[in-house]
Amino acid sequence: MSFEPSLRPETSVVALGRPDPAPDGPLNPPISLSSTFRSAGEPGPGDRVYARYSNPTWEPLEEAIASLEGGGVAGLAFASGMAAVSAALSLAPIGGVAVVPSASYNGTIGLARELAATGALVLREIDPLDIDAVIEALDGADLLWLESPTNPMLDVVDLPRLVSEARRRGVTAVVDNTFSTPLRQRPLSVGADVVVHSATKFIAGHSDVLLGLVVARNAELRARLARHRTLHGGIPGPFEAWLALRGLRTMALRLERAESSAGELAGRLLEHPAVSRVRYPGLPSDPNHGRARAQLTGFGAVVSIELSGGAEAADRFVDAVELFTPATSLGGVESLVERRRRHPVEPVDVPEALVRLSIGIEHVEDLWADLERALGAVGTADA
Ligand SMILES: Cc1ncc(COP(=O)(O)O)c(C=O)c1O
Repeated sequence: MSFEPSLRPETSVVALGRPDPAPDGPLNPPISLSSTFRSAGEPGPGDRVYARYSNPTWEPLEEAIASLEGGGVAGLAFASGMAAVSAALSLAPIGGVAVVPSASYNGTIGLARELAATGALVLREIDPLDIDAVIEALDGADLLWLESPTNPMLDVVDLPRLVSEARRRGVTAVVDNTFSTPLRQRPLSVGADVVVHSATKFIAGHSDVLLGLVVARNAELRARLARHRTLHGGIPGPFEAWLALRGLRTMALRLERAESSAGELAGRLLEHPAVSRVRYPGLPSDPNHGRARAQLTGFGAVVSIELSGGAEAADRFVDAVELFTPATSLGGVESLVERRRRHPVEPVDVPEALVRLSIGIEHVEDLWADLERALGAVGTADA
């Protein structure tokens, strides 16, 4: 069903990707379980041919994400966020120069480093907050990768400025919009060429599916990304695509609730003696707050804290929570907690004592009671 641009995003997530209205027709797109399609004669553009090329169950989701991001062409669904990241990185030619933040999501920087080690890429690692250094690195580059807010430091990057510097130099600008979702930030509107999502997180929203999404600015970029998906085979299953669209229906509600709790909890955590630092772009004291207000329509549902007692206290805190689940990932209905540096692959720029909290949709007072009790337990053990 076509997108009505005058609808608000909270309505669009409900309305997009529906089958065309027909008497007795279903409200939801059916799941198409078929690995191949009846031949329409000579293969040509628009022919499905085979389910690694396209699948009718992906398409409502692909149209929905493109509309939400303000893209001119349909999006592309991938098997996971990392399959989408891999396709987007492939937009740099073999031996081309990619400018990537060192403190990107660990899978993204890990893949970029591997590609560099094999000679597939020349990698220039940057701190995206150091504008002059990024501009210098863009000289002769092919691709700029940005994530904002960053995972897990929650730094807000000056997307309008950096994207426009990239475009002026003909550098393809890719933005990972997983943390903000198109409900809070639309990178294409500031000139980005490609937007990437781990739809595993807020879009699908229930910690029950892995899926990636990409939206490209134009048909040429989309065709290159689609070709990568077809030839590398990073395609989602139809059921996963259907689940992600089902999750999208409630994304606005879930995000509103989780974000409101995140803001409240961040403020309370700031006052807690066992916490030495709170990173949340919505806090007026956050160094990125001004930029966050200018660029985002909401500050998200992830809060990172540093424990005064260091990595050991952070581990004890994670052991002590009961309602929060110690687990990696974010953006689901259930609150999760994790000390990021427990992963050997986590960038060293991430402090050892940093704990990332993904705030879910539970009642904020129950979440606070759990955090306060666990922080109290850490404090007692330190005394
Ligand atoms: C910002 C970001 N991008 C990409 C990914 C990769 O997504 P997936 O786990 O769906 O492959 C993640 C996963 O945590 C992420 O946080």
